[in-house]
Amino acid sequence: MSMSFTVQSNIRNYDVFIQPTPDFIFQLAQQPRTCFVVDENVWKLYSATLLKDLPASDVIVLPINENRKTLETVQELYDKFAKLSAKRNLTLISFGGGILQDITGFAASTIYRGINWIYIPTTLLAQADSCIGSKTSLNYQGYKNLIGTFFPPIQIHIYTPFLQTQEDSDFYSGFGEVIKLHLMGGELNFRELVQHAPNILSRDPDALLQSIRTSLAVKLAYMVGDEFDTGRRNLLNYGHDFGHALESTSNFAVPHGQAVIFGMLASNFVARNRGLLRKELADEIFQELLLPSLKILPTSGSIKPEVLISAMKKDKKRTGDLLALIMMKNDFDFVRVNDLALQEVTDALAECKIVLGL
Ligand SMILES: NC(=O)c1ccc[n+]([C@@H]2O[C@H](COP(=O)([O-])OP(=O)(O)OC[C@H]3O[C@@H](n4cnc5c(N)ncnc54)[C@H](O)[C@@H]3O)[C@@H](O)[C@H]2O)c1
Ligand SMILES: [Zn+2]
Repeated sequence: MSMSFTVQSNIRNYDVFIQPTPDFIFQLAQQPRTCFVVDENVWKLYSATLLKDLPASDVIVLPINENRKTLETVQELYDKFAKLSAKRNLTLISFGGGILQDITGFAASTIYRGINWIYIPTTLLAQADSCIGSKTSLNYQGYKNLIGTFFPPIQIHIYTPFLQTQEDSDFYSGFGEVIKLHLMGGELNFRELVQHAPNILSRDPDALLQSIRTSLAVKLAYMVGDEFDTGRRNLLNYGHDFGHALESTSNFAVPHGQAVIFGMLASNFVARNRGLLRKELADEIFQELLLPSLKILPTSGSIKPEVLISAMKKDKKRTGDLLALIMMKNDFDFVRVNDLALQEVTDALAECKIVLGL
């Protein structure tokens, strides 16, 4: 993958630029009819440095957290956009992590039936995973990502130095998705990640960049031919069936990617008990990657089988009455089953509790 690449999309193709310097921010600041939306924490950290060229009068600073990924926050943006003289010719440029991406992407896709949107991801999760894939999502009444659209930015600019200021817990959350994508990329990617994980976690710029490029390449490979998530792309939800449930049962105290790590662990136990994943490989993945990266442990109350199962039943990806689960197999291939039994969940969660000492 070169320093820039085009993602083929049924909506419109879009470009991802891996930026070696911050010069692109100056270029973006010169564009006419733009409105910038910046994550409040990013603004506090960078308004005097990397973002100093943004015209302050055109910047909306948005306080965000997972509970603000709602229609109400989008309405706040509509109110602000409606006051601008630019209408359908407005370009929205947003800087922030996955939450800000979801809020601004949804707003951009719906106001005036869609305006130009440029996105600069500032977290590991957003740079390595969420920035591509065209999805925008909002939470609704406790249901995670229930509302959403398919709407890619026209451009994505990845500038890895933003990651140096991320809080450890958020950075580790992003690393959960990096682990998932490397496992899904096959054994070679898994082994490479085990080798480079210490450098990535100490935020070595080269190691970070390499892990982001591999993650995006794997995600792209799963999206080819299934942009709208009706088949193979669905496997990218590995770790997310249990993960999304844990996010809601913990009331988002466990961040997304950390919940996904827990989800991969629980799913691997089910896969092992079904004979799909051999014990040695499951143990190696746990010891080498999952355990050292799990920094925010769930409370035992949030992973009680009945609590978690009831949250899993609310997941929008469910298609029938039965519980679905995506599992990893010995050959690093992935499978989705629709016949997950309650007992299997209970057994897997009991094992999670033991190995995590909960
Ligand atoms: N649309 C998609 O395809 C998709 C895919 C995966 C995840 N998501 C969503 O992404 C969200 C999680 O995203 P996230 O992990 O990026 O978290 P986030 O957006 O909550 O950001 C984490 C925290 O880091 C702060 N922050 C952002 N950039 C920073 C920086 N450079 N330095 C210091 N602090 C910074 C934010 O203010 C926030 O407090 C979830 O809501 C999840 O559902 C969306
Ligand atoms: Zn995810």
